[in-house]
Amino acid sequence: MAYASFSQFLNVLEKAGELKCISVPVQTELAIAEWVDREMKSPHGGKALLFEQPLIDGQLSKFPVAINTMGSEKRMALALQVESISDLAQEISLILKAKPPTDLREGWSLLKQGMNLLHARPKHVKNAACQDVVHRFDGATARNLSLGELPILRCWPQDGGRFITLPNVHTRDPETGARNLGMYRMQVYDGLTTGMHWQVHKVGARHGKLYYERNERMPVAVTLGGDPAYTFAATAPLPDGLDEILFAGFVRKKSVELVKCLTNDLEVPADVDFVLEGYVQPGETRPEGPFGDHTGFYTAVEDYPVFHLTAITHRREAVYPTTIVGIPPMEDFYLGSASVRIFLPVFKMNFPEIVDMALPAEGVFHNLVFVSIRKQYAYQAFKVMHGLWGMGQMMFSKYIVVVDEDCDVHNTSEVLFRMCANTDPKRDSTIITNPSDSLDHAPSVQNVGSHMGLDATRKLAGEGYTRGWPELVRMDNATRKLVDELRKQSEVRHLA
Ligand SMILES: Cc1cc2nc3c(=O)[nH]c(=O)nc-3n(C[C@H](O)[C@H](O)[C@H](O)COP(=O)(O)O)c2cc1C
Repeated sequence: MAYASFSQFLNVLEKAGELKCISVPVQTELAIAEWVDREMKSPHGGKALLFEQPLIDGQLSKFPVAINTMGSEKRMALALQVESISDLAQEISLILKAKPPTDLREGWSLLKQGMNLLHARPKHVKNAACQDVVHRFDGATARNLSLGELPILRCWPQDGGRFITLPNVHTRDPETGARNLGMYRMQVYDGLTTGMHWQVHKVGARHGKLYYERNERMPVAVTLGGDPAYTFAATAPLPDGLDEILFAGFVRKKSVELVKCLTNDLEVPADVDFVLEGYVQPGETRPEGPFGDHTGFYTAVEDYPVFHLTAITHRREAVYPTTIVGIPPMEDFYLGSASVRIFLPVFKMNFPEIVDMALPAEGVFHNLVFVSIRKQYAYQAFKVMHGLWGMGQMMFSKYIVVVDEDCDVHNTSEVLFRMCANTDPKRDSTIITNPSDSLDHAPSVQNVGSHMGLDATRKLAGEGYTRGWPELVRMDNATRKLVDELRKQSEVRHLA
């Protein structure tokens, strides 16, 4: 059964021993971040934390703060209600196998049709828990709650202020009416305005540009909480046009119920904890940042659009969900890994030679990609690298290391061993110029940079290698089995 609320998900985490409730008052200014950073850095991502008494400038908040709720493989699986994340990959694979597509575009469209058939299509409702309590700022009711009363964190000492770090931002293409859900952080400027940090390559920014060109006010709705499938969908690198709400319905195996906002005509999931309704005014920008980012460094101040609130609505017992980013590993690593795992069948559809793929935590998403392939012909590793650089947000991948199928890409040490042992850097590397992640501080110019591919597969004659590739040093199977048996029979004794 899909989660009916974020609180229900928290109850499941608690029953699974995955949630610690913190009853002492803790400051939303830095202290929660320091507490959870230690938790995120503990083995397997530590536990989710529920701060029952967050303090805002010394005052107790009306709402508790939940954090690190998806910050481990186990909690990610609980969030998406699967035994293992690979189960969802398996389902996507089945949809794609029903009528094998001829190219990526057809693949995504098939996936969309498959999700529709699986009753993932959203439903429309009139009454919604997320509108239990209504605070409108357009004069319809007295204003009595503003962003200043939400337990929004200031995460790091040099941050430019408080940031909403887990916002699900709903926008609409003014030309096609297509919906988009993306996660873009929001810096709080005052009780009624925030920054809207959609980077230039993201769909929210594309929608924004269309409104600016028309000189029309852009309706935006931001939701917090509800079924964690929404938050996951907002971060997933779906192609522009594949509706995240449809995808969330597919993930939770239940149509998402949507309700119309009260002060604009966007629709949002009815079961979320908070809705921030508002708009972005064409042409209006304001300095945003600095912010301690997922790169592990502060990102500099830059101009971004401004979000104006027209209403806050919320559940009666709302919980404020958030996260922090910074030096890895952090919670976002598990969100990113789940995306890679779930969409592996789509990558494989485009590149049948791909066996597995991993984005290790140290690479903070785009910086490092490990791919294993079943190599058949010369320069195949290069074909895969170039193909990946052309696929959606994979364009940002700074280093791609390709290894053979017998290398476990989830074992960074094994990949580095292959990379060091199997490459002649001049022959086996390529450097290209491509769009870069806006947050990457290393390129001399923002948004464009060089990316490197390393072919760490065994080399073929067609690649100019004529010496005869050596065998890996490995024990034979018979001896391995024998020692397995002997170890079982042997008692473990310690020297006296
Ligand atoms: C915790 C977290 C925070 C994020 N913050 C931002 C952000 O501030 N700006 C941004 O452009 N992308 C951010 N992202 C990445 C986007 O959510 C991601 O690229 C998503 O696929 C964008 O959706 P879109 O393709 O529909 O625009 C964040 C991701 C996570 C997990």
